Amino acid sequence: MKNNFAHWFRSSTPYIQAHRNKTFVINFGGEALQDDSFQNLIHDFALLNSLGIRLVLVHGIRPQIDARLQKLNHPARFHNRLRITDDVALQCVKEAAGLVRVEIEALLSMGLANSPMANAELKVTSGNFIVAKPIGVIDGVDYANTGAVRRINSTAIHAQLEQNNLVLISPIGYSPSGDVFNLSAEQVATSVAIALNAEKLIFLTEESCVDENGNLIAQLTTDELKQMPPEFALNAAMESCDAGIARVHLLNRHIDGALLQELFTRDGVGTLISSAPYEICRAATLNDIGGILELIKPLEQQGILAKRSREKIEMEIADYVVIERDGLIIGCSALHVNALERCAVLACLAVHSDYRGGARGQRLFSTALMLAKIQSAETVFVLSTQTAQWFIERGFVACEWTNVPDFLKALYNPQRNSKILFKPLE
Ligand SMILES: CC(C)(COP(=O)(O)OP(=O)(O)OC[C@H]1O[C@@H](n2cnc3c(N)ncnc32)[C@H](O)[C@@H]1OP(=O)(O)O)[C@@H](O)C(=O)NCCC(=O)NCCS
Repeated sequence: MKNNFAHWFRSSTPYIQAHRNKTFVINFGGEALQDDSFQNLIHDFALLNSLGIRLVLVHGIRPQIDARLQKLNHPARFHNRLRITDDVALQCVKEAAGLVRVEIEALLSMGLANSPMANAELKVTSGNFIVAKPIGVIDGVDYANTGAVRRINSTAIHAQLEQNNLVLISPIGYSPSGDVFNLSAEQVATSVAIALNAEKLIFLTEESCVDENGNLIAQLTTDELKQMPPEFALNAAMESCDAGIARVHLLNRHIDGALLQELFTRDGVGTLISSAPYEICRAATLNDIGGILELIKPLEQQGILAKRSREKIEMEIADYVVIERDGLIIGCSALHVNALERCAVLACLAVHSDYRGGARGQRLFSTALMLAKIQSAETVFVLSTQTAQWFIERGFVACEWTNVPDFLKALYNPQRNSKILFKPLE
């Protein structure tokens, strides 16, 4: 247990470093407040704040508004899933927002000894950061006091975050004429994240995003999102990705510690949405030969890779793995296994110059090692003219000519004078 803890704590260090001073906008619905587990979420917010993450919380109030309207026996009216906020509903909105904000502020102010909030002394700021305008009449339906975000006072929010204050925002906006508007919390979170140029926008949702078999969808592109049924958080995620927020996370708030697992472990528990084009590492097919040739041609011309004919690649295509991005081959490698001598040669490792430094070379390398092990190879060799250091940093060492297996000696071109390196596989 102790070892597990030390291991877990150490492995979270790179994430702690990476997130420090970054701005995260987190949205959660009014439902979250009605749960006993809300305190845990508050503790996690406090922890993120103490790790130097600049936090903006945007809370919802839908169930609180509905409860008030019900008490008054006043109908809750919606059109296209958006609330029509008449004057009675607006009064409920103001009351709900005020109460919810005070409750969250109270929880964030706790500092009892022996509790996770001890010595936290968190400073929370709320304010008139959102300028709104009325939605008006759409399809003949008057939305009354329901509004849309017109502008975010990002300078004021940045100033608060600069002082390590946690910013708490309600789904309410004010107009220059002093009117109050009921806003969608998801839209507010999206607009705030875009205005602040936040590193992350996180939606704490009521359910996980799953496929038809009930399995969590770990990653989605905006193109894939467009195929899914419309939903508040999904629409907001799409809008923010399109506006340049690099990482939008959908996290099931019912999973205890979901935020911490998503942010501080390699395999999160949520769905990451990005607008980046889809990229996969897969076995090559004959259709990839053109792409592989185009990728390696400049490297052959520079003498970095040995020359290969189309026919040779065609014959050995089963040994190749490629990285495809948006239909383009941007990386490749080949692993030739010699079953008799229980060893393999990693060859033709290349990443397009526009995409280097993104661990794609490492990905191809790890895949090759895994494939070598599956095929019972005990040693992997490489021949390199200019990249020996890259392999040495990954555990390869120079190989004496006498120890070079015969099949590799037969392949060796003395004119290229490549260094021969090897790595024993565990
Ligand atoms: C080697 C190669 C595949 C790495 O691809 P990549 O996607 O950039 O790899 P990674 O992101 O996993 O690794 C990047 C690291 O490798 C280092 N690196 C790149 N080329 C290197 C070289 N020739 N020698 C030593 N280190 C090198 C980078 O500086 C970077 O290190 P840093 O992060 O400490 O700065 C790529 O640079 C390439 O295609 N090179 C030309 C082809 C080649 O040399 N193939 C090997 C034939 S034996």
